[in-house]
Amino acid sequence: MEWTHLTVKPDIGRGAGAGSRGSGGADPSGADSAGSGPTLTPPNRPQNAICALPVRGAPGTNGDQDEMTPHALLTLRFARHGTMSMAGGVVRTNACEQEDDVVGIGIIGTGRQGSDHAQRIASLGDKARLVAVHDLDRSLAGSVAARCQARVAESDQALIDDPEVEAVIIASNTETHVPFVLACIEAGKPVLTEKPLGITVPTCERVLDAELAAGRRFTTVGFMRRYDPEYGRLKATVDEGAIGTPLVMHCIHRNPSVPKTFATRQTLTDTVIHEIDIARWLLDDEIVSVALEKPRHRPSVTHQLADPLLVRLEARSGVRVDVEVFANAGYGYDVRCEVLGSEGYVAMGPRDHDLVTVESAPQQGFPRDWLERFRPAYDAEISNWVDSLANDRPTASAWDGYAATVVAEALVRALQTGHREAVSVGPRPELYD
Ligand SMILES: NC(=O)c1ccc[n+]([C@@H]2O[C@H](COP(=O)([O-])OP(=O)(O)OC[C@H]3O[C@@H](n4cnc5c(N)ncnc54)[C@H](O)[C@@H]3O)[C@@H](O)[C@H]2O)c1
Repeated sequence: MEWTHLTVKPDIGRGAGAGSRGSGGADPSGADSAGSGPTLTPPNRPQNAICALPVRGAPGTNGDQDEMTPHALLTLRFARHGTMSMAGGVVRTNACEQEDDVVGIGIIGTGRQGSDHAQRIASLGDKARLVAVHDLDRSLAGSVAARCQARVAESDQALIDDPEVEAVIIASNTETHVPFVLACIEAGKPVLTEKPLGITVPTCERVLDAELAAGRRFTTVGFMRRYDPEYGRLKATVDEGAIGTPLVMHCIHRNPSVPKTFATRQTLTDTVIHEIDIARWLLDDEIVSVALEKPRHRPSVTHQLADPLLVRLEARSGVRVDVEVFANAGYGYDVRCEVLGSEGYVAMGPRDHDLVTVESAPQQGFPRDWLERFRPAYDAEISNWVDSLANDRPTASAWDGYAATVVAEALVRALQTGHREAVSVGPRPELYD
């Protein structure tokens, strides 16, 4: 690996003035230094950089420095990443040697989600390619790699350090997300982690701290519902004011079945986390309190799983969100959402099933699972993420992952206390505006 000098100057871009996290507790290390980390001169003046940064008329630019092509921005972005782990204005040349538009992706965790994403990356063709995969289950990783013409990396760190891996997808078990995200940030590589970002608030705070110290975002959290056409229609309707002022949001999240080991806490941190994120996103608001109720349950319910659950979220604006979550609904995967406003309502989800029983599950008309129901959303999420590497498009950030976990953790408290629990995410640092 070679190292090349770049002309750098204090960040005057997006990371400048990122500010402290301010979510309560100690001031995060390095937060106040946001903006002092070395990055390249402004993106519209790339000629100051020596290494592979496009100049007017060079291949990969459209000849106008103010309207850089995705390739030029991608090159610039990777070069900026290269500066993150190094002092003294040097950058890894591999980060600068991106010759084409095809982004090299690595995937850690090749189970259900990871193998699905591997196929998706393979189908992106001209803008991304799967370089390497890693899974504790080597044979699983091997079969995914063979299917997608990728390599098997010996370890998670080997995958992250692979010079051809320019961005990483994490689809391993939930408790591994934060350590792998931190390793990607350390390596200066963009990362998309499956939801949730972390199971606990302190682990998520470590990611915010790392990004604030770096003065830039690296992390996208896989809240793919934001890319679902149906949720998109709801969001557009609410945003254009067609239903007036939002007052109440009703959500249903029913899953055919979960393993016997699945516990109520996971319903909150792994399942309801989707509704938490969609409520924050749809309402453009933060949640300030939560409560839950355990209704009568199905006889087959296991000890550690209260199923179904009724969750209530209160937004800062006063909008109330209710979520019925049923992990073992049996008949199919059924996700619904309705926003009631002062002038009308907008809704999504199945409506034409008068009688549904579990006898012959899965019922016709219902998707089998989330991979089927949200396939277009996953496709758009991954495609948008790859695009975002070049054009800085907004995605669900580490802040969104953190805020969702703050709410989920409050729900876990509510489960234990039986009371309404207050939620405080604190002020959002400018880095995440
Ligand atoms: N966005 C969504 O809608 C959605 C849906 C389902 C699951 N998920 C999330 O995706 C993640 C994976 O879920 P899944 O259903 O694919 O699970 P899975 O069990 O099918 O796959 C997880 C894989 O990760 C591997 N793994 C675990 N620890 C590892 C480590 N330290 N290093 C490398 N590999 C490791 C396991 O061997 C397994 O193959 C979970 O965090 C889950 O919450 C998201």
